[in-house]
Amino acid sequence: LIQQTPDLPLAHQRVLVTAGGTREALDPVRYISNRSSGKMGYAVAQAAREMGADVTLISATRNLPVPTGVKVVYVQSAADLLAQVSTEFPTTDLLVMAAAVSDYRPVQSATEKIKKPADHADLTLQLTETPDILKRLAPQKTHQYVIGFAAETQHLMTNAQRKLTSKKLDLLVANDVSKPGVGFNGDTNQVTLLQPNQAPIKTALLSKIEIARTILTTAVAAGAVQA
Ligand code: CTP
Ligand code: CA
Repeated sequence: LIQQTPDLPLAHQRVLVTAGGTREALDPVRYISNRSSGKMGYAVAQAAREMGADVTLISATRNLPVPTGVKVVYVQSAADLLAQVSTEFPTTDLLVMAAAVSDYRPVQSATEKIKKPADHADLTLQLTETPDILKRLAPQKTHQYVIGFAAETQHLMTNAQRKLTSKKLDLLVANDVSKPGVGFNGDTNQVTLLQPNQAPIKTALLSKIEIARTILTTAVAAGAVQA
């Protein structure tokens, strides 16, 4: 008999968390990435572990301490992340996609370092879209509860609402990354939690670990853990 205890509401649950900004290689020494620190995803992994879950962190960041008791798998690109998440998804109960996935990658990754041309001409990079991991997983959902993030600098609620629907999410964490103290770097965050057919829940400006606990507690209250 599996029982959830109030202090360990994620006991016996397999939680998969992605974190950090993916890196898309241009050549062996250069990449395209973004300003994500990975701290929010790491905080979610820590909070899930503290709530009793069996936690795997798929991390595109290598310079943060891995929370105690959390298993980590390191990845580089969006394609690597897709491969790892796809492998783990069938046995996952709760997926938290906190990673800032690069939306584009160079069409070609050179095998040797790209040299400056002798004539110092401008360099044009051709980029191609990466797979949308959440959209790819949506049709494979069986029992999984899926949480996504939305980083926006404008029209936060409209864009976030669209992502909740189009990615078929159970919960979306909307972040206005243009506000001081919010999102991408620091140790604090302020978010709005969106769920289908529910009023939005706006948090105060809190530490990332407190935000992480709020996200997971909201998911549990919404029925993320099946009896
Ligand atoms: N995401 C994903 N695969 C991608 C891009 C994003 O799974 N190729 C996930 C992110 O991990 C996040 C959510 O989708 O949980 C929203 O990411 P975001 O970058 O805000 O949205 P996009 O759909 O990429 O749209 P845009 O960047 O144009 O706002
Ligand atoms: Ca994006």
